Amino acid sequence: TGAGMSAESGVPTYRGRGGIWHEYKWENYACQTAFIRNPAHVIDFHELRRIEALKCEPHVGHKIITALQTKYSNTSIVTQNIDGMHQRAGSQEVIELHGSLWRMRCDKEGKLFENLSQGKYANRKCSCGEFLRPDIIWFEDQLNESTVVNATHVISQCDLFISIGTSGVVWPAAGFQQLAKKGGAHCIEINPEKTELSYLFDDVHREPAGQVLSRLFDSLL
Ligand code: APR
Repeated sequence: TGAGMSAESGVPTYRGRGGIWHEYKWENYACQTAFIRNPAHVIDFHELRRIEALKCEPHVGHKIITALQTKYSNTSIVTQNIDGMHQRAGSQEVIELHGSLWRMRCDKEGKLFENLSQGKYANRKCSCGEFLRPDIIWFEDQLNESTVVNATHVISQCDLFISIGTSGVVWPAAGFQQLAKKGGAHCIEINPEKTELSYLFDDVHREPAGQVLSRLFDSLL
């Protein structure tokens, strides 16, 4: 899943109409260089993202994915989203390629701090005095290797691959359809807009995620 999955819950996308990167330059808010230059500014931006995310609720599509995972335990969820919406809908073991808004880490001590329910950060600094940074893969960051290995493993083994609400321009997710196809999977894209990858899919649904998932998996409702 990508930002379009959460868009239906009211969380803004990154590149579409009203996308976050039209309003905020990622160079000032979503990279390690910006964090080193002005940590408080970057933390403010992410705190705002948390406050906004908490105003939104998972939609029927998230709930169907949770129901799918409950019924078929070999369903894997791989998301580029950092808003924790799948978990709020009750999904388990979500592979979060780009990290999570709800975790902070101290790079000096290698500690992680999780807080799933508060918009405001409980602490902006570690007890060692270092600023905590959101545990997110920012622009120019390396992805977490074990997360990518996990995602690659489940996608290369799957027999049904559904891409929901991503523009498919950011790697490695941009290559996941091809990985799934190579493993013999049937590939479905759900996105109201055409993407650069649309032509690679076996089936394309040009409607919002909740609507399509409700139709495809109506027996789970
Ligand atoms: N249902 C399905 N798809 C939708 C919906 C909806 N209701 N609404 C919008 N979309 C689609 C848009 O058409 C667009 O193709 O969601 C896609 C969102 O694309 P992006 O904003 O580019 O988001 P994403 O692909 O998740 O971005 C990948 O880029 O900025 C980084 O780290 C950030 O995780 C993000 C990554």
